[in-house]
Amino acid sequence: MASPVTTAEPTDLDPYSPPAQLDPYPYYDRLRDLGPVIHVPHRDVWLVPGHAEAVQVLRNPADFVSGDGVTFEVATLRTERYPLIENDPPVHDRIRRSLQPSFSKKAIDALRPGVEAAAAAIVEGAVAQGEFDAVKVVAQEMPDRAMTLLTGVTPPTAQTLADWSDATSRAEEPAGTEEHAALVAQSVTWLVSEGLPNMPAHCLGRLIVDAGGNDGAIDADGSQRLMTLASIWLAGIDSTGALLGNAINAFIDHPDQWELLRRRPDLIPNAVEELLRFGAPFRAFFRRTRAEAVIGGVTVPAGARVAVMLAAANRDPRQFPDPHRLDITRENARTHVAFGNGLHVCLGSPLA
Ligand code: HEM
Repeated sequence: MASPVTTAEPTDLDPYSPPAQLDPYPYYDRLRDLGPVIHVPHRDVWLVPGHAEAVQVLRNPADFVSGDGVTFEVATLRTERYPLIENDPPVHDRIRRSLQPSFSKKAIDALRPGVEAAAAAIVEGAVAQGEFDAVKVVAQEMPDRAMTLLTGVTPPTAQTLADWSDATSRAEEPAGTEEHAALVAQSVTWLVSEGLPNMPAHCLGRLIVDAGGNDGAIDADGSQRLMTLASIWLAGIDSTGALLGNAINAFIDHPDQWELLRRRPDLIPNAVEELLRFGAPFRAFFRRTRAEAVIGGVTVPAGARVAVMLAAANRDPRQFPDPHRLDITRENARTHVAFGNGLHVCLGSPLA
């Protein structure tokens, strides 16, 4: 059995160092060249940057569990776990089954006219401005409108919801601040005091909070229903916003691909998959090993914090030849792991 590579310098291969954060792709290339698993003692995390190994971990929830948190650190202010993403079977599966009908192709297709009308209005408004900030005016507005259509929860403003969603992700990273944690708490307080009472009679929010999902399987006691709704509501904002922002950026850097897409709109579905591969909105999710486990032939101890590096896996040349090139005709683009894989694969991907 091979040994994991351990970094000599404490900060050498730290995924949270400024160079790795600001320019991650050369850093990911370096990691993959070192081997399938890299231990960073300074953070005590075990990095998994390859595509095959990422899929191996994500498809093995028995050995690599989510119930101990899926981010770098568990937030200090949050005492409740998110019922889906931070849970293992059987509770995870019971809740997921109960929500699945609301995310079926048919259910999401029913939202299509509303989403398309919102998209058209946003783009027309942007074009009318002549010059605009694409992140604020397009990337941030679109998920806000789509999530209101999906859940029935209408936030104070798109900016507020974007800030709350952003804080939800950041609060659990090393750079997370008390301000981020306070924003997360504020979002849940607002959801209880204003979001829930003002939801329309029939919406996903009411289905979850009043009826406990499609089969009533989400517990009424404790805060399982509230946290289920909060997590769905917040999960779709900065993720989809980042996808749109990254997509606009990628097309600016690859104008030939934009021209190709304009000529061949039939390529849009594959282009979306390629854009998810090229600029994965979430760089990593974490797991904890239940017992000693093997990843890509490397033994990892029990209780190890394993970082599945989705954005690195999506640029793995063993899976995607010439990985740093945006190619909207790429045949296996949809094998990206931007939505994860296996048991916890993104529930909201049909909408996203
Ligand atoms: C481009 C947009 C999105 C990306 C890249 C994304 C990515 C992901 C990833 C990687 C996971 C798996 C996490 C893990 O394995 O630990 C996940 C799970 C999840 N996502 Fe998304 N997501 C997006 C949009 C959405 C939307 C729009 C919603 C809700 C409408 C949503 C709801 C969820 C939920 C509820 C889970 C947990 C599923 C489970 O644990 O069974 N996501 N997402």
